[in-house]
Amino acid sequence: MSKQQLGVRALRKELSGILKAVEQSGQPVTVTSRGLPQVAIVPVTQHDLPNSNASKRKRHTTGEEHVQIIATLSLKGGVGKTTIAMHLATVIAEHHALVTVLDADEEVSALRWQQHALADGVRLPFSVIPADRNSFMRQAKDLARAGHIVVIDTPPNNREVLKSAATIADVVLVPVLPTGLDVDRLGTTLDLLRDLEAALDEFNYAVVLNRYDARKGMAKEANQALDNLPRLTTVIRALASYEKAFGHIPSDLVQFREIWNELTGSTVPAEVVP
Ligand SMILES: Nc1ncnc2c1ncn2[C@@H]1O[C@H](COP(=O)(O)OP(=O)(O)OP(=O)(O)O)[C@@H](O)[C@H]1O
Ligand SMILES: [Mg+2]
Repeated sequence: MSKQQLGVRALRKELSGILKAVEQSGQPVTVTSRGLPQVAIVPVTQHDLPNSNASKRKRHTTGEEHVQIIATLSLKGGVGKTTIAMHLATVIAEHHALVTVLDADEEVSALRWQQHALADGVRLPFSVIPADRNSFMRQAKDLARAGHIVVIDTPPNNREVLKSAATIADVVLVPVLPTGLDVDRLGTTLDLLRDLEAALDEFNYAVVLNRYDARKGMAKEANQALDNLPRLTTVIRALASYEKAFGHIPSDLVQFREIWNELTGSTVPAEVVP
């Protein structure tokens, strides 16, 4: 299949005709500048249309400059919201000077994590601050405007906080444990998120499987069940190091670097790279 090529000047003049040609021929067109390929205009296939699993899996990828506020949330408790928030914040702090975890949980687990570290004389590579009860959407936006990457840790069973966090987040991560029961119970959280999705212009959420153990058949089944949902490809394994991280600087970061790459789309899909 030979790709049609054209220069940037021709593109400016003839864009609408070219788009029509791409649509009708189903063939990509490569745009060149000084003879070198720059970008490709690729026809949309069934694969890319909304409701296909592939497109659902890609939705959470927004580009690093667009990921300023991330929320970990679920109506269910104990699924790993705080663990993920703190590990992800550590990874983000490898590249960004200003990273803040906004603790919106009255149990203040993230704040207590920081306090325990400080008591041992250890400063986390980011700050954890309590969310203002009545104005935390503004608080998160103000931090983002001041250049912070904000990770919001939320409480379980709190629809109001969940909705507020999801409304302002560029990306929402919904951890789920790898059992049939847990995947089934995702429904209520996802219903709330879909409701918000209907009301907001831009909304990105992805389910992330946590405490995955490939030796367990049930975990594999749960992993497959998530393929029907917007999800991260990365699964977070069940590791003692994650359990022991409370009160310390998280050190086992490989999977969370993968998650950050996935969220920021640093692996550009091959078909749009000329
Ligand atoms: N991938 C993992 N491997 C091993 N242990 C994990 C993993 N993720 C979370 N845990 C452990 O599971 C427990 C619950 O995790 P965490 O506190 O992060 O969940 P949570 O969703 O924030 O809970 P809550 O709803 O109470 O705020 C903690 O003891 C944590 O160390
Ligand atoms: Mg928590």
